[in-house]
Amino acid sequence: MAVETIEQTQEELILGFLSESGDDYTSGETLSGKLGLSRTAVWKRVEALRTKGYRIEAIPARGYRLVEVPDRLTSLEVTPLLGTRELGRTLHHHAVVGSTNEVAFRLAQDGAEHGEVVVAEQQTSGKGRRGRAWVSPPGLNLYFSAILRPELPPQRAPELTLVAAVALAENLREFGADAAIKWPNDVQISGRKVAGILTELSAEPERVHFVIVGVGVNLNCQAEHFPEELRETATSVSLARGEKVHRAQFAAGLWTRMEEWLDLYLETGFDAVRARWKELSSTLGQDVLVRTDRSELRGLAVDIDPSGALLVRTEAGQVERVLAGDVEQLRPRQPQRTR
Ligand code: BTN
Repeated sequence: MAVETIEQTQEELILGFLSESGDDYTSGETLSGKLGLSRTAVWKRVEALRTKGYRIEAIPARGYRLVEVPDRLTSLEVTPLLGTRELGRTLHHHAVVGSTNEVAFRLAQDGAEHGEVVVAEQQTSGKGRRGRAWVSPPGLNLYFSAILRPELPPQRAPELTLVAAVALAENLREFGADAAIKWPNDVQISGRKVAGILTELSAEPERVHFVIVGVGVNLNCQAEHFPEELRETATSVSLARGEKVHRAQFAAGLWTRMEEWLDLYLETGFDAVRARWKELSSTLGQDVLVRTDRSELRGLAVDIDPSGALLVRTEAGQVERVLAGDVEQLRPRQPQRTR
């Protein structure tokens, strides 16, 4: 839902104040002063929040305390936790969609603004890279697509995928997962895929109209949610940490980091993103097998170039530049014996 009612904004503000207070009580008087509402109006909004699944304790002479937040990703849950100017401030939340990338693409074609985000509790035809499907069971994970309108030439748009990958790996680490980036945009924990990014572009030769950055993160799904053939290679944060992840906190943290990295990238260029990507990557220094649509290439992943392409040194000693493809990371290279 893109258009917020006044009541919704007031409810978000109440939730914001109550979450800031943590376990402390906030008096009705304080809330009514901060919101410029009567105490009866505050009480009505608290009642409305309760019907939406929030547990808010009220004790006479002490005030209100937020006890439990429903596990949902509407703006009511996410906005009070956001630290962004633009990203996610307009949130289109859906219970079920085919693909958030497709919904976001249509919204952008109809004029949606930079920073609008489409998020869904479930996708029925979630899209992965190279025509693959993205498993998207309801209410467990994070599936979203951000609409970006950066002033960039189209050939630089792929760099945005690396911007998102850096934010994603950092946020996963913040949530206790030992995440690393596998080129170009898979995020893994202990060699198993936990998140992926699908970037789609609308442009003319000189100018980007918009970019859709679609991100899927396996947060709370369990092994049985993956199809048999993925069980050995996929994971979720909860499987890796043995603890449930608070999805709204994760989403708000991720969008906040994404905006910070995006600001830095648009102000200063790709260098800082590239340097951080290299620190977070598990691909560099590994023997890799790269499959593109037409060929296969084997060698040592030595670097990414200033545009984000992977540089692979082959057995013949030649350095090949790979713009797109699937990377299989072979066993780490052992120091070579010389005798
Ligand atoms: C990949 O690693 O193959 C990319 C996966 C991208 C999945 C996300 S989920 C949200 C957004 N909507 C989609 O249909 N795909 C992306």
